[in-house]
Amino acid sequence: MPAHPAVLTSTPEWQRLKEHRKRLDGVLMKDLFSEDPERAKRYFTEGAGLFLDYSKNRITDEVLETLFALAKSCNLEARREALLQGRPVNVTENRPALHTALRNPGSDAITVAGQDVVAEVQRTLKRMETLVDDVLSQRRTGFTGKPFTDVVSIGIGGSYLGPKLVGEALQPYAKAGIRCHYVANIDGTEICETLRQTDPETTLFLIQSKSFQTQETLENSKVARQWFLKHCVDEQAVSKHFMAVTANVPAAQDFGISSDNVFPMWDWVGGRYSLWSAIGLPIAFTVGMANFRALLAGAHAMDQHFREAPLAQNLPVIMAMLGIWYTNFWDAETHAILPYDHYLRSLPDHLQQLDMESNGKSVTRDGTALAWQSGPIIWGGVGANGQHAYHQLIHQGTRLIPADFIIPLKTHNPVATHHADLFANCLSQSRAMMAGKSLEKARAELVAEGRSEAEVEQLAPHKVIPGNKPSNTLTMEKVTPETVGALIALYEHRTFVQGVIWDVNSFDQWGVELGKQLGKGILPRLLGDNSDRPASDSSTDHLIELFRSNGNV
Ligand code: F6P
Repeated sequence: MPAHPAVLTSTPEWQRLKEHRKRLDGVLMKDLFSEDPERAKRYFTEGAGLFLDYSKNRITDEVLETLFALAKSCNLEARREALLQGRPVNVTENRPALHTALRNPGSDAITVAGQDVVAEVQRTLKRMETLVDDVLSQRRTGFTGKPFTDVVSIGIGGSYLGPKLVGEALQPYAKAGIRCHYVANIDGTEICETLRQTDPETTLFLIQSKSFQTQETLENSKVARQWFLKHCVDEQAVSKHFMAVTANVPAAQDFGISSDNVFPMWDWVGGRYSLWSAIGLPIAFTVGMANFRALLAGAHAMDQHFREAPLAQNLPVIMAMLGIWYTNFWDAETHAILPYDHYLRSLPDHLQQLDMESNGKSVTRDGTALAWQSGPIIWGGVGANGQHAYHQLIHQGTRLIPADFIIPLKTHNPVATHHADLFANCLSQSRAMMAGKSLEKARAELVAEGRSEAEVEQLAPHKVIPGNKPSNTLTMEKVTPETVGALIALYEHRTFVQGVIWDVNSFDQWGVELGKQLGKGILPRLLGDNSDRPASDSSTDHLIELFRSNGNV
């Protein structure tokens, strides 16, 4: 596996970046714009149908050159090849992370443990095609012969967020006839509300779980099966209405799903990178297989861009290194994802899991404690709604919050001047973040309003917007299967590049295991087991008692 500099913070590149950071203290982006009329053109790049304006960042040519030099000193190019060629980059589980093979159109073989994964992926796509076409064309029906009208996808985390995001994003391409529902949480409300909206005769259940061991998914699936059997006593009918996507075929069979109704997952695909696999079936049911393949093609175009474009023009690399710049040199703790598009409203949720589960790590690949910050908090929401909520803190709070604005140039729903209004809102925010408002300007505005001198002095400091807040603006012609594929793949690679710089394993998630283990001990006590279990802390014990004494046991 390609090496990493022993101590990242002692590298000459890191030291140079610290000096650049000092030199840029007090330098305002708005002055950099005034000094260089070409700035917007110089800090603009495109790839796979996406356009990136990164000029509103605290950068100079020297900063960028040093960031790319740092990437090279961390062996980014070799590490990227190791990822794409299927080497075991997930070092704690000794597995490759081959989500890129899921969107490989099929020409180059990639072998894992003697098996050509590209051929296996293509076979699975064919099976998905047959199923989706049969359901959409009503050749495949429910147990009473009625066509399917609803698909209920039961899965959580990576087996949920990606398909839900893309299913929503591609609504303009939705086929008539099938409604997709998503059930993730162990909160019974979710499954009950969903079942209330569906009819057992016309509902297809997709159990989506790589491990087929996830409590939330299994418990919800059992409720769905009981509900189904209440309406249809014939156990055989389960096979017409329940399908699974999993790497654990025996567990799916134990649940009662026949092997021809099981679609494969592989241990070389991480859950949060799995929407491109059969986990994407809800997407395919929503928009049809041709659009699903177009989504894969868009992601593949981004994979090629990532592999081939020079670092200085490479969208994932540029965005990743800007993130490193703010996290490690400007102490930014969070990064905001701000899609200005209703169809992309779930993008922050998906990217939150993608990035925080991947890079929320505290040790290097060889297990040494990190002496630098790793993944930031990823959060966000749809614009312009956020402007009337949390943007206040972005503009005037004490923290530095770099943001990505994401907006298509054209809308699927032209109405009145809405799209221009939306675009203006988006641009106004990135401009306000960058330019801000000085004390003098605030004073002048108050004077122009006819305020008294005392009022001007009292109010002006509250109206100052410090500005100099960094942002990227990502755009595309339209939200299409191809551009959505490219957009998600862009963030996957951005996450990978940052993991390379921080030297963490971006493909495991041991941190989520402890809560699962502890939950197994707590549940029996909530359900009334009084046997001598190892004591919890007094807070947990007290809350367990409170739950039990409130009529739950
Ligand atoms: O608990 C986190 C997690 O392990 C995610 O990584 C994963 O996407 C999710 O649970 C669901 O896992 P599975 O697909 O195995 O049910």
